[in-house]
Amino acid sequence: MTNPEAEIRIPRFDAYERVMHWMAALSFFYATLTGLALWSPKLYWMATMLGGGYHIRGSHPWVGIVFAVVMGVMARRWAKGMRLDADDRVWLTRMHKYATHDHAALPPSGRFNAGQKMLFWTQLAATLALFLSGFVLWFPEWMPRSLRLLSIAAHPLAAIGSITSILVHVYMGTAAVPHSMRAMLRGYVLPEWARFHHPKWYKTWRASNDV
Ligand code: HEM
Repeated sequence: MTNPEAEIRIPRFDAYERVMHWMAALSFFYATLTGLALWSPKLYWMATMLGGGYHIRGSHPWVGIVFAVVMGVMARRWAKGMRLDADDRVWLTRMHKYATHDHAALPPSGRFNAGQKMLFWTQLAATLALFLSGFVLWFPEWMPRSLRLLSIAAHPLAAIGSITSILVHVYMGTAAVPHSMRAMLRGYVLPEWARFHHPKWYKTWRASNDV
């Protein structure tokens, strides 16, 4: 007997969202590796792999701008759907249940769960801090000393926040939540995945597709 559900594909990310996401990922990793190489002499060996110190000193800020612009595009597309609702606020107070796989103890999630939403806002705030402090460090001769000193501290701190949140994100999107990559690579998910991870979103999809 065949399972009719296995034929159903639920669209999750359209081509625009996927291109935007992978552009963010590529520019993020390039800016991170070049930034780390420029930051610490112990990591300077990475500069050799990425084209040499002179080259990465020139490319790092430009790729940083590409990343910030893509994040702006991402915010335009997703910010509305990333607002926390009443269920999300309860979800956050019971986050430990998510970590222990006790999903029944959590309120149902919409298209994104509260953890994904928090990660999105953290990443957006870190990107803004990176962009502003990076601009000051790019043109130090135009900037007052106080702003230069503030940026020297803020830029690596924002980078550490951003890298930490992306490490969590990559772990969640690959190892921790199987089949998530299908959504970001091929654009769709299967009903079982949607019902388990995003029940409210799944319900809305069913209602609007008469399934
Ligand atoms: C190799 C690196 C990355 C991998 C493997 C990855 C993987 C994924 C996957 C599988 C999803 C879909 C999750 C779902 O359907 O619920 C996703 C969504 C998303 N990604 Fe990534 N991603 C990477 C890098 C990044 C970077 C660098 C950013 C931004 C700085 C980013 C921001 C987002 C956002 C905002 C979402 C939607 C909400 C969420 O799922 O957290 N990703 N990513």
